[in-house]
Amino acid sequence: MNFLEERILSDGIVKEGNVLKVDSFLNHQMDIGLFDQMGAEFKRRFADTPVTKILTIEASGIGIACLAARHFQVPVIFAKKSKSINLEGDMYVAEVESFTHKCKNNVIVAQKFLNSQDHILIIDDFLANGCALQGLIQIVQMAGAAVSGIGIAVEKGFQPGGQIIRNLGFQLESLAIVESMDAETGVITFREQA
Ligand code: G4P
Ligand code: NA
Ligand code: NA
Repeated sequence: MNFLEERILSDGIVKEGNVLKVDSFLNHQMDIGLFDQMGAEFKRRFADTPVTKILTIEASGIGIACLAARHFQVPVIFAKKSKSINLEGDMYVAEVESFTHKCKNNVIVAQKFLNSQDHILIIDDFLANGCALQGLIQIVQMAGAAVSGIGIAVEKGFQPGGQIIRNLGFQLESLAIVESMDAETGVITFREQA
């Protein structure tokens, strides 16, 4: 078991509706030492991959992306979410659907921060259905930039996002892949990774 899986077992709480609460170290209070370790692990997994910028999405991806950026020594861009678009300058906009919140959101990045020379590492905290992630991928492609890879803290392996993204051919590295979790017993199992 790796350091993130161990932390999830000790401090994560399984809620009804297949929700894993990790707000004591990841989603609300943030353990920066842990984030730094995650950044080092992303750097190890993407060691041979060109990365010019890290792209994430507000809010919970930002902290993880910032610590990862220390290891890659590149800037972080976070995509903004908005229900309506107030077009100030030139923006890349992708429409994404949230299954959890049952609504559509726009994911927005200013065009000036992405260009066709960029190699983008996408970072996020959770991967569930992958809608937000697909929005970020679309935005990178709109800019004519390359997706170097995708780094996720916690993938919910029993939801379809991971398989969809891997089937598209992207290198997706999730530090913990939850295979199953049970709200009644609190038992969490992880997928074995090489
Ligand atoms: P998806 O299609 O993009 O995978 O997202 P989904 O609608 O399934 O999830 C909506 C939000 O809930 C996302 O955050 C996602 O990170 C988060 N989420 C999904 N499953 C879990 C879970 O088991 N535990 C926790 N803690 N979060 C989960 P968001 O609302 O888009 O962003 P943020 O502002 O929280 O970063
Ligand atoms: Na997120
Ligand atoms: Na979240």
